[in-house]
Amino acid sequence: MQLSNVTFVLSAPNKKSWPIDDIGEICFLGKSNVGKSSLLNAITNNKKMARVSSTLGCTKLINFFDVDNAYRLVDAPGYGYHKNSMEADKLFSKMMKEYINDRENVKAFVLLVDSRHKLSQDDIDCFNMLIETNKEIIIVATKADKLNQKMKSEYKKNIVDVFKECGDLKIFLTSSENKSNIEELVNYIDLLMRN
Ligand code: GTP
Ligand code: MG
Repeated sequence: MQLSNVTFVLSAPNKKSWPIDDIGEICFLGKSNVGKSSLLNAITNNKKMARVSSTLGCTKLINFFDVDNAYRLVDAPGYGYHKNSMEADKLFSKMMKEYINDRENVKAFVLLVDSRHKLSQDDIDCFNMLIETNKEIIIVATKADKLNQKMKSEYKKNIVDVFKECGDLKIFLTSSENKSNIEELVNYIDLLMRN
């Protein structure tokens, strides 16, 4: 299954631009370049849905996509790429903290982590911020096409270990390149968001 009937709604620089209605949202978060926009394209089977780039900081605003008039996917800018620019960092933090803490429409967050690397302090900080919201958190480890079977099971064990205090977390190891586990993730998201 893939998500069909997905259309771009708007890009928001701040809360004044967020859509005003009761439609639920699922937001994709993670460090810059982890593969958020690529994942969005993979789950909608549309390479042009969200802009993808190997340059850090490709997505600069919060982008809303409607799925079948039933719920929205939200593509967020990534953290951790403007460490040496206080101004840019402040702007990003404000935009994302505002969304994470104030957006009532959010039903779930998908936190993306790069399966090729250890979790960063930024990943843990973001996770802790999400926990505070009491909303559902799904962990997606991206770029799994770069790992062999042994590395995959070790990585999964490692993140289960790091996040174990948080109870029953849903974790997917995916690849937007070879589409592994994309269908499982789509089924999970669609069921969650339609109920
Ligand atoms: P920002 O918008 O800057 O926060 O980045 P992003 O998290 O949206 O990442 P994006 O989807 O733009 O992808 C960043 C880079 O990683 C691109 O060069 C993608 O082609 C690559 N990439 C994304 N997903 C995968 C994957 O599953 N496997 C591999 N091998 N590369 C990937
Ligand atoms: Mg992006």
